Amino acid sequence: MSAMKLKNGIYSVGVLNPALRVFDIVMEAKYGTSYNAFLITGEKNILIETVHADFFEEYIKNIEQVVPLDKIDVLIMNHTEPDHSGSVARLLERCPKLTIYCTMAAKKYMEAIANESLPCHIIKPGEILDLGNQRELQFIPAPLLHWPDSMFTWYPAEKTLFTCDFLGTHYCEPTMLDTGIHDQKAYEEQFAYYFKGIFRPFKPYVLKGLALIDALPAEMICPSHGPCLTKNIEHRKELYRLWSTPKIPEKKFVFIPYVSAYGYTKKLAEAAAEALSSNPSLEVSMMDLVHADAFEVASKINSCQALLVGSDTINRDAPSVIWKALAMIDAINTRKPAGAFGSFGWSGEAVPMIKARLEGLKFKFQGDGLRVNFMPTEEDLLSMKNYALQIVSSL
Ligand SMILES: Cc1cc2nc3c(=O)[nH]c(=O)nc-3n(C[C@H](O)[C@H](O)[C@H](O)COP(=O)(O)O)c2cc1C
Ligand SMILES: [Fe+2]
Ligand SMILES: [Fe+2]
Repeated sequence: MSAMKLKNGIYSVGVLNPALRVFDIVMEAKYGTSYNAFLITGEKNILIETVHADFFEEYIKNIEQVVPLDKIDVLIMNHTEPDHSGSVARLLERCPKLTIYCTMAAKKYMEAIANESLPCHIIKPGEILDLGNQRELQFIPAPLLHWPDSMFTWYPAEKTLFTCDFLGTHYCEPTMLDTGIHDQKAYEEQFAYYFKGIFRPFKPYVLKGLALIDALPAEMICPSHGPCLTKNIEHRKELYRLWSTPKIPEKKFVFIPYVSAYGYTKKLAEAAAEALSSNPSLEVSMMDLVHADAFEVASKINSCQALLVGSDTINRDAPSVIWKALAMIDAINTRKPAGAFGSFGWSGEAVPMIKARLEGLKFKFQGDGLRVNFMPTEEDLLSMKNYALQIVSSL
């Protein structure tokens, strides 16, 4: 893709990656992506973001189509994940006079990525960079969207906001504009998928970020992946607001996922569910993981207010379906009560291993869990009921 004029004095100089199918290990990229970068020209020439290191030469060619490299004064880095900062060190070799405008965290991360000290100017919240000719840029720190380093850059003269990952989409769009999208349905699906993959764990920060930009009369939003937004901007912001606003449940939800080969661990799960169900303020759901739908497990394990995991011990471990379910936990939002229980034959490793995993994920794990040798006795079932009640007592 070559450089492209988007607005008066604003050029797209980023690159397309239509072949990408997996992003950051965890996200699918069905329609590829783009690593967006922008150039603001005028008395001062300002570059916003670099690109993934694999695309450095194409990026340089794009910039040179607009201005010679030695005419660039400032590089703004709104976020420093290597898909955006991967080319910073090489860019500085070609433009040694550049100053990088960024947050304190961004400087720290970029220097650890480049393994060298970098000529950074640390911005203050609301700081203005004078571009001459009555034009300026304003910096708005927006931490944890989605790294601690992130900020927005506002260009009032052109009513344009640069948001890096925020409001982006892994959707390779060669026109770089939302007016050029051919498959709108696919774009909408990817816009929502991107939110889930990147921003869902940071909902409170999304709401804070929206509050910071709500009053800005933006005509164009330039994210770092996918097309720039020029229409329905308010609608796009409203979607982020809707997806991030907590829904207050009428009842506290307790989830009891379990596995059980001979029904012993299941008996414990049933005892826990019975004890909890007598409390009308609780909604309790037991689920046998062997026959469960992965999507439903993920949804319940992340939406519950308390988690009780039941597993027998098979070959000195919990079965893989247990680990698969625990791997679906959104580990950013886990400070909730949890416990583990299970039947075992002779060594009984599953419960302590689940405890270690849940504590590693920062759940508030209750005691050491409950282990029962083979078939639970009436006394064991009573202990299970008491353990379950203990777990929810802090809700
Ligand atoms: C293939 C297999 C391997 C097992 N490995 C272990 C083990 O390593 N340590 C242990 O304590 N129990 C082991 N057990 C015993 C089970 O944990 C025990 O039978 C338990 O009561 C089963 O509970 P469930 O009915 O909830 O599945 C194993 C059982 C099977 C079938
Ligand atoms: Fe990122
Ligand atoms: Fe990104």
